[in-house]
Amino acid sequence: MTLKLTVIGTGYLGATHAAAMAELGFEVLGLDVDPAKIETLRAGRVPMYEPGLDELLARHVEGIEGSTGRLRFTTSWQEVAGFGDVHFVCVNTPQKHGEYACDMSYVDSAIDTLAPLLTRPALVVGKSTVPVGSAARLAARVAELAPAGDAVELAWNPEFLREGFAVEDTLRPDRIVVGVRGGTAEKVLREVYAKPVGDGTPFVVADYATAELVKNAANSFLSTKISFINAMAEVCEAAGGDVVKLAEAIGHDDRIGRKFLRAGIGFGGGCLPKDIRAFMARAGELGADQALTFLREVDSINMRRRSHMVELTREACGGAFLGKRVAVLGATFKPDSDDVRDSPALNVAGQIHLQGAQVTVFDPKGMENAARLFPTLAYAPTALDAVRGAHAVLHLTEWKQFRELDPAQLARVAAERVVLDGRNTLDPERWREAGWTFRAMGRPNA
Ligand code: UDX
Repeated sequence: MTLKLTVIGTGYLGATHAAAMAELGFEVLGLDVDPAKIETLRAGRVPMYEPGLDELLARHVEGIEGSTGRLRFTTSWQEVAGFGDVHFVCVNTPQKHGEYACDMSYVDSAIDTLAPLLTRPALVVGKSTVPVGSAARLAARVAELAPAGDAVELAWNPEFLREGFAVEDTLRPDRIVVGVRGGTAEKVLREVYAKPVGDGTPFVVADYATAELVKNAANSFLSTKISFINAMAEVCEAAGGDVVKLAEAIGHDDRIGRKFLRAGIGFGGGCLPKDIRAFMARAGELGADQALTFLREVDSINMRRRSHMVELTREACGGAFLGKRVAVLGATFKPDSDDVRDSPALNVAGQIHLQGAQVTVFDPKGMENAARLFPTLAYAPTALDAVRGAHAVLHLTEWKQFRELDPAQLARVAAERVVLDGRNTLDPERWREAGWTFRAMGRPNA
């Protein structure tokens, strides 16, 4: 008989996972504590912008014309407990207020609510990013609370999806990692992931601690790569080198690789910044803080990029922000997303605004979220409108449509022709030909 799956928490991770599991052929029941989110999902709509996810949901949500009906949503824990053979826990683990450590309260409360309702055999699978040691602690909690006792097992199955590629990363992941402690968990998870594994996705079986650490290590490595190239950008600026050329040249070495070597205003989002901080905090608790002191440097190089952009803009505005208008292209933490959590772009826009400039932002998808977070910034309906009357134009999120802008057209409406590329993806020649003073991070001024 085919396994029945539930997905607890329908944010980025959960909504995508639920839809992907339905695509793989399973019957899936998604739960969220937010009734508004559940209503949206039941209508086959996604509460955020993620390419391809709307279509995937609509293909499977029950009640939508032409759908398979394999995917349903509920707010009832009883229903979830009664339905599922496998329960995926996909709630978020944000950074604690005023601390580096991660806030486990959503995970803890999901387990504490679900476990007492588990009266039949089931596998609880954590997917949230958690501090190492959590799986062992939660397994004990499940054993203590579940009426079905030993027949309920726990596994940890970290998720590596990238926003903007969430559907692809979930349907065709580059690896599946499961942390198990004997029992039938591995067998059950092999059944869940039979399709991608059959298609060649490596399936790595580890103990709880290793599985949890794989996620921490992967995000630390990616953050380190970005901060490395940003450190090189600082040196390039001091020495008159070009970090874009440098990244291309070192990237030809297979051992280094070309990916994640884009210098600019650095990394943000709901994962990398908080994950490296939570990892440092946890290592500290374990007495291994020395091993991760380099992550402090990674974090500070990254944060320094934002202040550096603010300083470059001040310079471009003739040394002071008062009475100046600044256009900001991009608000999300990366393109193809509407996510503005810890967005370097919005952070830079906010700092410049607080220091006295009039900042007008345009973003293709992130305007609503940005306006909610920073209601005091001005928002323009198009890039052209944002640039109108500006003394400096900042390119802070590398949306494709910004590369396709016509610098000559923008030149006609700007007050001053000064553009600062915070993502190193605009073509300096095109802008210079149209009369712009072009500055980028870690590149010569020319
Ligand atoms: C990341 C991890 O990639 C993913 O595996 C994990 O599951 C969650 O965290 P995501 O947050 O979606 O995914 O974004 P990612 O594509 O990794 O980019 C993170 C940030 O780094 C963005 O702000 C991006 O602009 C920045 N970045 C990325 C750079 O500044 N330079 C680069 O070369 C690459």
